Amino acid sequence: MLLKALAFAAAVAPALATDNDKVYKHVVTFSVDGLHGSDVEKYVAKRPDSTIATLLKTAYEYTDCYTSAPSDSYPGVAAFVSGADPRTTGIWYDDTYDRSFWSPYSTTGTNCSGPPGAEVTYDETKDYDSTKVWSGGIDPANLPQSIIGRKCTWTYPHQRIRVNTIYEIVEASGKQTAYTDKHPAYDMVRGPSGKGLSVGYFPEIQAFDTTNLTQIIGYDQMHVNSWLAWINGTSLVNSEVQDPLTGIPTLFGGNFQAVSVGQKTYGYVAGSLDFTPELLRALDFVDNSIGQVVSALKTKGVFDDTLIIVASKHGQAPIDPTLYNKVDQALLPPAIKVPVAFITTDDIGLVFLVDARDTDAAVDNLNGQRDALKIDDIISGDRLTYLGYGDPSTDPAVPNIIIKPKLGTIYTTSTSKIAEHGGLSDDDRKVACFASATNIERTVFNHQVFTKEFAPTILQALGLDPMSLQGVVAEGGKVIDGFRG
Ligand SMILES: *[C@@H]1O[C@H](CO)[C@@H](O)[C@H](O)[C@H]1NC(C)=O
Ligand SMILES: *[C@@H]1O[C@H](CO)[C@@H](O)[C@H](O)[C@H]1NC(C)=O
Ligand SMILES: *[C@@H]1O[C@H](CO)[C@@H](O)[C@H](O)[C@H]1NC(C)=O
Repeated sequence: MLLKALAFAAAVAPALATDNDKVYKHVVTFSVDGLHGSDVEKYVAKRPDSTIATLLKTAYEYTDCYTSAPSDSYPGVAAFVSGADPRTTGIWYDDTYDRSFWSPYSTTGTNCSGPPGAEVTYDETKDYDSTKVWSGGIDPANLPQSIIGRKCTWTYPHQRIRVNTIYEIVEASGKQTAYTDKHPAYDMVRGPSGKGLSVGYFPEIQAFDTTNLTQIIGYDQMHVNSWLAWINGTSLVNSEVQDPLTGIPTLFGGNFQAVSVGQKTYGYVAGSLDFTPELLRALDFVDNSIGQVVSALKTKGVFDDTLIIVASKHGQAPIDPTLYNKVDQALLPPAIKVPVAFITTDDIGLVFLVDARDTDAAVDNLNGQRDALKIDDIISGDRLTYLGYGDPSTDPAVPNIIIKPKLGTIYTTSTSKIAEHGGLSDDDRKVACFASATNIERTVFNHQVFTKEFAPTILQALGLDPMSLQGVVAEGGKVIDGFRG
């Protein structure tokens, strides 16, 4: 049966003979941050009786599935909840720049004064006190400022995303939703109305040592506890409650951070590329946790009416530890030589110039430093638009230049991490990706798909209109293969 399904998929992909048109009562989404598609394969080989292996027996599995580009957590989540890429959502990174924004009131003491153009950060720095797990949530005075409806507005993350989200649409349909992630700044998933979540649960991860796997497993356990509470129709203390749960939410989800920390701190074994014991420990924790959610859904008698989606918001690069090398990010501005307004660096460089007319000169200067800066590609001008990144001359959030370093290169001075994400490589972007439900006949899709395609898919799976997502309409997006009705 299994082999037959696989052979069938290989022969006739992309479309199935009959697409899955079941309407589910619940959709649960897990982002196992950092989890590559290749990790799923390796893990299942090692743990054939795991929850993930079991879920895959009745799943559509996508083996060539890509996150947004850039692949930072923040645009990764934006793509997953809106069905759209950064050119449409306006969300490029958790720490980037916008030519139409002003710095927060808490740093300037003024409201939208002076010429626009400011760093725009949506992470723990927005909290009242990020040293506390319960940080007090977002202090509006820490928010970047922009003009909304002609008014200077301290701009919440949900006001930053330019298009609506699945959480917003499900909530507006009268159903309930819940979501948990790393910082209160994941308010973004609520969508422009700000109303997309019945319940949000945002313990601040920066209150922990984010290089310490034991601590981060403890942190992730809070997310697990919230999922179990939601399945019980309740929410935990310290939740942000807009609409108290009356039962199991129709749509709920969140992320795990343990695998990402396992990758950044311990990684893969050189040569074999096997998991280090610590990374395997993180994977086992995640698998066991998903198992608890599955058991709870079964106990409540709703498992057969639930679609479980695992689609990670980012991968991690490099997988092969021998490719790792660091370049001090402080070397970039002097190499660019023309005035730079801001650079986002990780295993990518997003360059915002003071004057766009300097772009060609900046690119020439960078070309002269390709070896020193371990540059693989420099994207600017028409190529930005052509490759789907948008146009910096008309969109204030699009960088003038994207630097793609060679695989394994991280622009950092950090001594603790051996891998990072955010970049454009396959190690950054090719992630775990499957949709499991008891009515699904296992099928493996080997052609290219994108995590953003899950947004319209989730709406369709809940009997809602996938085209009610503005970002999907804007980009001509589609429901992921297997679900096309
Ligand atoms: C800036 O805006 C805030 C919020 O609207 C207001 O409380 C504050 O008085 C304003 N400050 C200045 C200097 O305009
Ligand atoms: C990680 O944190 C735990 C709990 O706080 C502590 O016991 C342990 O020593 C830490 N491990 C490392 C490697 O720092
Ligand atoms: C869920 O409810 C059951 C039955 O009332 C209870 O035993 C269990 O502890 C609850 N679990 C959570 C996580 O709230």
